[in-house]
Amino acid sequence: MVCLGNICRSPLAEGILANKCKELDVFVDSAGTSSYHVGQAPDPRSQCIAKKYGIDISNQKARHFQYSDFESFDIIYVMDSSNHNNVIALAKTETDREKVKLILNEIKPEMNSPVLDPYFGGDQGFETAYQLLDQACEIIKTNIENEL
Ligand code: 4NP
Repeated sequence: MVCLGNICRSPLAEGILANKCKELDVFVDSAGTSSYHVGQAPDPRSQCIAKKYGIDISNQKARHFQYSDFESFDIIYVMDSSNHNNVIALAKTETDREKVKLILNEIKPEMNSPVLDPYFGGDQGFETAYQLLDQACEIIKTNIENEL
């Protein structure tokens, strides 16, 4: 799960998917395309919205997306087209590029809708991000179950 800062959207996405996949043999992680917030816990507003739905993301620490993530992960979900461009810019092979997907295309295929960045806005943006990510992660979990 990749966003810009790895403190708002992708930590939520990581927490939601990991929570849904507790019984599955899946490793879920998140990272940011920037290093602005490396080492920091998720934004308090992301922690708060996750907690509201019974998910604890307080132990996460922001990290910077790196090339080795292409080798470590089968699928790399990004939140918006800017994240997509930044991640694709680091790809070396067609196999790398094929791993990168916009997460909301799981709900609305090929629409390329973004999970809007809630960082500079109010609490409603975090609720909206949560609901969209929850819907997308439910589909991702089903896809994983069907492939295992
Ligand atoms: P995120 O949100 O990419 O969802 O973690 C942001 C967090 C921080 C900044 C931008 C977006 N920032 O500019 O510091």
